[in-house]
Amino acid sequence: MSVLPDAVFFTEENSALAVAERLSKTERTRLSDALIAVVGQVHTIIKEIRPTPEEWQQTIAFLTEVGHACDDKRQEWVLLADLLGLSALVEDMNSRRPPSATQNTVRGPFYRPDAPHLPLGANISLDGVGEPLTVTGIVQGLDGFPLAGAMVETWQANSQGFYENQQPDLQPEFNLRGVFTTDADGRFHYKTVKSAGYSVPDDGPVGQLLGRIGYPLRRPAHLHFIIKAAGYQPLTTHVFDGGDPNVREDALFGVKHGLLGHFRKSAGEAAAPNWALDFTFVLCPKKVEARR
Ligand code: BEZ
Ligand code: FE
Repeated sequence: MSVLPDAVFFTEENSALAVAERLSKTERTRLSDALIAVVGQVHTIIKEIRPTPEEWQQTIAFLTEVGHACDDKRQEWVLLADLLGLSALVEDMNSRRPPSATQNTVRGPFYRPDAPHLPLGANISLDGVGEPLTVTGIVQGLDGFPLAGAMVETWQANSQGFYENQQPDLQPEFNLRGVFTTDADGRFHYKTVKSAGYSVPDDGPVGQLLGRIGYPLRRPAHLHFIIKAAGYQPLTTHVFDGGDPNVREDALFGVKHGLLGHFRKSAGEAAAPNWALDFTFVLCPKKVEARR
């Protein structure tokens, strides 16, 4: 007879159970439940992949490098979560909206608070570098009712795919950022330049690892928006250039059908084309039930 009849000793077969049993002895909390779930899945994955000791060491070395690559300016863990679709999943699960509302996306690391409040029609390109783009839009509720006095905050990369806070020595402060207020018809308009798509950083362990298997690291060109109106859920989103070749393979899984914008080129000006974008943002009232 066993000396310890109730103990779950660790074997290859019951490895997850052995750890789960130990975790279950602590007070049951959301954290301990999450740990049990994570441990169970990781044990299953390890049994499926069956890493050699060398491969396991390489795995630990990669995770260590990811940690070392983080500092107050760079968050390699967030990049890993972004590139594996985990950030997009958490965002989607926590911002369920009715299908006719504009979808939420992550805010991303290039946002800066305190962008200047500007009059309608202002130009947010402070250096004028790039192909001119006029953005017009309307903010409305689910019922199509236009929302006057809504706050429309925007930020974007320049024509080379860099945000102002990535190039503090090359771009004017608050370049390509601004906050506008919709008029009595819920409309807004401003001038800017067409932004370019860009690659997420590939000089750290995450970019290097995924680059080895040819994983897409590019983002299609896009504009960022935060829209707020009294009585409505705030919306944080992107509008993507539907004509960008990378629109089907956004490295960060932000592209959704409802977020594709049609950037129209005005005819006859091949040397310096002018572009126009018109977009409708549909906000959800604060009380609307989340979509399941
Ligand atoms: C962006 O601003 O495009 C961005 C969003 C999320 C993660 C990285 C970048
Ligand atoms: Fe961006």
